[in-house]
Amino acid sequence: MSGPRHVAIIMDGNGRWAQMRNRPRLFGHHAGARRVRQIVESCPPNGVKYLTIFAFSTENWKRTQVEVSGLMKLFQRYITKEARTLAEAGVRVRFIGDRVRLNDKLVELMDSLESTTEKNNKLHLTIALNYGGRDEVARATKRLAQDVKSGNLDPDDVDEETLPKYLDTYVLPDPDLVIRTSGEARISNFLLWQSAYAEYEFVDTLWPDFTAEEFGALTSKYANRDRRFGGVKV
Ligand code: FPP
Repeated sequence: MSGPRHVAIIMDGNGRWAQMRNRPRLFGHHAGARRVRQIVESCPPNGVKYLTIFAFSTENWKRTQVEVSGLMKLFQRYITKEARTLAEAGVRVRFIGDRVRLNDKLVELMDSLESTTEKNNKLHLTIALNYGGRDEVARATKRLAQDVKSGNLDPDDVDEETLPKYLDTYVLPDPDLVIRTSGEARISNFLLWQSAYAEYEFVDTLWPDFTAEEFGALTSKYANRDRRFGGVKV
């Protein structure tokens, strides 16, 4: 059994990591951003071709204004700072989620990173920003309904193959392994449709402490599992 081709991560625990150090929550998010680079680097040696990370959910707007605007600034800074390294390392970057509520400057940076890396193929890094699984399905359904209305889609042709073509992830394979850090055993609206057959790993480590070694150990554990997809082992 081979390792996971697509790993998705819910990067949780930045706030608690900072609180334990008597520092503001944003201090934890900055430490978390530094972790992202290490995990991105450890994908190719572990045979991972697709990495999808949950950076900001549709529910995260409920946090304080200070935290939300600090995170938005952090994303801008991260993209500006890491763009060249990612491009040169052969990483293709994509963003999923609803861009409508994000500020223009950030969206511009996201578009530009997507286009400068579009020919890369070593690793496909997808960053979920203002993403929610239900929101994604709702937006997909709206577009699908528009296609029916305009006569481009016959309702009789709508099946399990059709709907995912309207999702933000339409070009990506489904995740094989979903990891959540910080001890919470919830999926929090992440990749709901796509993770129907994924394996889940909930680890206690807070995201800023999540190392390349732990990532490697989880991918090896996956490789040693027996996956049957609802069938019977032969
Ligand atoms: C959850 O921890 C984390 C977030 C909502 C933000 C994730 C963002 C990063 C890891 C930073 C950078 C990401 C990129 C792509 C540059 P939490 O705040 O919910 O932690 P808590 O549960 O301990 O409060």
